[in-house]
Amino acid sequence: MRIDIITVLPELLTSWFGESILERARAKGLAEVHLHDLRQWSTNKHRRVDDYPFGGGAGMVMQVEPIHRAIEQLKAERSYQEVIYMSPDGQLLDQPLANQLSTVENIIILCGHYKGVDERVREHLITREVSIGDYVLTGGELAAAVLSDSIIRLVPGVIGDETSALSDSFQDGLVAPPDYTRPAEYQGWKVPDVLLSGHQANIDAWRHQQAVERTHQRRPGLLGKTGTGSGEDRS
Ligand code: 6GU
Repeated sequence: MRIDIITVLPELLTSWFGESILERARAKGLAEVHLHDLRQWSTNKHRRVDDYPFGGGAGMVMQVEPIHRAIEQLKAERSYQEVIYMSPDGQLLDQPLANQLSTVENIIILCGHYKGVDERVREHLITREVSIGDYVLTGGELAAAVLSDSIIRLVPGVIGDETSALSDSFQDGLVAPPDYTRPAEYQGWKVPDVLLSGHQANIDAWRHQQAVERTHQRRPGLLGKTGTGSGEDRS
């Protein structure tokens, strides 16, 4: 898998992608992330990539031409199944969407800044818009990092324990059950007896029941929400 991120602030993301689990994914040849400075496709001698909005109003708008040139250059080098624009009014990122995108070979992610991008980018150049939550960030870079992380960690072999991505919280539409480690008692705070019993069937049943109970209490909206991102059960 390969992800190409187009941004006006690539240096915001270099240390993140250079050091996390994603660097291990790159070293193992499983997934790579390439950061591109949008300004390299500017046609302006000051390397500007934004301009004032037609019709007036506050804020600057990212221009269509540099973005078009960036995407065209990447597409000339390989084919991309998705060109994603990070936007607070996009489709909400959830586990089914991450699952779906983790099966894609090549993805371009465009980070918005300022007021956003010229609408013609959204009309003609992208396949999908994604938001990471109902709040506004100053730019799409953090959102692109979140999206990339959620996708790449699902690529087989990226995280050590083969089963752990599938047993994630959310993967079965349930939050995770509680975990404990030694000591079995700390200042009178005890680990549930069942976990110390050595009886695996009872332990599995207890964990499942805890997960169901917690999901009802904390995240009832998750119940029944599984699959591969058809979007049908997204509210
Ligand atoms: Cl993708 N971008 C920005 N600027 N803010 C956001 C977001 C994206 N997702 C949630 N808030």
